[in-house]
Amino acid sequence: MIKVAVLGYGTVGSGVVEVIEGNNAQVSRKAGDELHVKYILDLRDFPGDPYEDRIIHDFTMILNDPEISVVCEVMGGVGPAYQFTRQCLEAGKSVCTSNKELVAKHGAELLETAAGNHCNYMFEASVGGGIPLIRPINSALTAEKILEVKGIVNGTTNYILTKMEKEGADYGDVLKKAQELGYAERNPEADVEGHDACRKIAILASLVTGKNVDSEKIFTEGITKLDIADFKFADAAGMKIKLLAICRSMEDGGVLAMVAPFMIPKDSPLAMVNDVFNGVLVTGNMLGDALFYGRGAGKLPTASAVVADVIDCARHPGKTVVCIWDKEEARLTDAAEMQRRFFVRAKAETAADVEAAFPGGECFAVPEYPGESGYFTPVMKEKEFLMRYQGLGDKVLGRIRLV
Ligand code: HSE
Repeated sequence: MIKVAVLGYGTVGSGVVEVIEGNNAQVSRKAGDELHVKYILDLRDFPGDPYEDRIIHDFTMILNDPEISVVCEVMGGVGPAYQFTRQCLEAGKSVCTSNKELVAKHGAELLETAAGNHCNYMFEASVGGGIPLIRPINSALTAEKILEVKGIVNGTTNYILTKMEKEGADYGDVLKKAQELGYAERNPEADVEGHDACRKIAILASLVTGKNVDSEKIFTEGITKLDIADFKFADAAGMKIKLLAICRSMEDGGVLAMVAPFMIPKDSPLAMVNDVFNGVLVTGNMLGDALFYGRGAGKLPTASAVVADVIDCARHPGKTVVCIWDKEEARLTDAAEMQRRFFVRAKAETAADVEAAFPGGECFAVPEYPGESGYFTPVMKEKEFLMRYQGLGDKVLGRIRLV
């Protein structure tokens, strides 16, 4: 029997127990032995819960129990999750996690600790919820030089953007609904300000480069400055607005990593990714494009990915599955040096000033907003754009990058 401990009995933790128990025949057969949840660690008690008898409050019971070979860390945050993960790995217990914050911050070190103790640190659920992404990048696509990873990796913001676009819904109301559905982070600022997507692209960029990409150095902009009017202008121009996370291998050996709202053409595959779904386009130099699509957040999809990692650990007792992510820092390219077009929304009476600031662009209007005008600039460096945009002061109402 393979005995498992679950750290944290919140949304994902309860999902992990539900997947292991509900799919027990399947997961056990695939793991090669019966899987059993022996402990569930949480600060709280859960009177009346079907697994109440497995709830414990003392982590050392797990650490000191030689029967426990795999631990699911689904507590979230860095704090105790980091200490617990380190101690489990040092004791030779594999750890499977959905904790993107911890993976982004200490992934390289924890992988090294796992390798030194002949066990595994696995984090499929940390990016894209239930969508297989980490394992494909590490195995099926391992012969590729990955040129670009570009996608929607935060379910909460995609849910909010979809509702704003399709229903003109109020931002605050939709965020509340996303929290009720179990999509949002404990502090939803992590979602709406782009930090969650930033941590996820840091993880993917680290796997793509094999070096450490520091999430704190990644250019990140969230969705809080978007207005319903932006969606109307985007629609009139045949575009949609999506929060994209991008990692691109540069010719000089550097890597561009960034998170920001982008206008993308309606016929782009990523434009069709709606609600809580995530979509990630991976471009390899031999394969070309591969699209990964599915539920990017939520209890059971995320739990399913954690349990898949548990099965992988069970299949490799005493062995470490190769995952290249060195501690050496990757060289990040400055996002402000990138060239692209930009959308600018302005007061209608200042359209001539906008045109003068960005000559050679394209001006357009939408009937619902007669007091405003839209403008697409020509291709220019981001730092040049921002300088001129800021010079326009209160004549402009918003701006969005174009892919
Ligand atoms: N808050 C995250 C999201 C959860 O909305 O994508 C899944 O990582």
